[in-house]
Amino acid sequence: MIKYKVPATSANLGIGFDCLGIALSLYDEFKVEESDKWELHGFINDEDVENNLFIHSYKEAAEYKQMEAKPLRVFVKDNVPCSRGLGSSSCLIVGGIYAFSALNNNCLSKEEMLEIATKIEGHPDNVAPAIFGGLCVANKDGLLKLKVSNKWNFGVCIFNYEVKTSEARKVLKDEIKRSDAVANISNAIMAVDALVNFNVENIKAITKDTIHEPYRKKLIKDFETCEKLAYGLGSKAFIISGSGSTCLSISDKPIDIKYPNMIYKQLKVDARGVR
Ligand code: HSE
Repeated sequence: MIKYKVPATSANLGIGFDCLGIALSLYDEFKVEESDKWELHGFINDEDVENNLFIHSYKEAAEYKQMEAKPLRVFVKDNVPCSRGLGSSSCLIVGGIYAFSALNNNCLSKEEMLEIATKIEGHPDNVAPAIFGGLCVANKDGLLKLKVSNKWNFGVCIFNYEVKTSEARKVLKDEIKRSDAVANISNAIMAVDALVNFNVENIKAITKDTIHEPYRKKLIKDFETCEKLAYGLGSKAFIISGSGSTCLSISDKPIDIKYPNMIYKQLKVDARGVR
């Protein structure tokens, strides 16, 4: 039996739509062993092996290596909430791929895991930090892993309603203006530097997205009120985590946000990824 955990992730980081993400200290925990039949425990629907994202990803990893996907017995403790913008799908994808590798002499490198996981997820911004940890910049041509300054404090506002990523992608525009592209490129560079080098003056750049946040804020009914509350308490940046509904606060000192129908968790950046 192998035991391992996969970190939650906060993708996009405002200005880094589909290419930036960080791993956070909240984990889905897995126990996996080979078996004579498929057996799932702790998933939303343990009976539906056929449509299970963990099993699908395990089989994709086997296919990638042109090896047999032997049946598994899988136990999950899913601490990462579903459809809330904290990378719960990535946890299952990375969990399934990691299971195949670990049960077969660690036959996949992290780079190969990223290739398989990105093909399944469609974009790398959640799966990259789930695999590598830290702050990841990822696109189809490569990966850059960076260490976030440990002086930053991260807090997630987990609202009690879901936003489906598929729905949150439908509200986006297919084309963006050149001036918006320029704004996002420059703000992304400033924000990444601010995260790595604890530049408190420039961290606001992370909130200046023009590609997805203006459209998606409308899907999160508590965004504006909670944002005001967070800034009042000393937050330096308040953004949507992934495609929502969770929001991420970044501050230079610990803050505690209390709001109805919302769970607030102070988290650290996970520097190591799946393990
Ligand atoms: N980059 C993705 C999105 C993250 O914002 O749609 C959610 O999976």
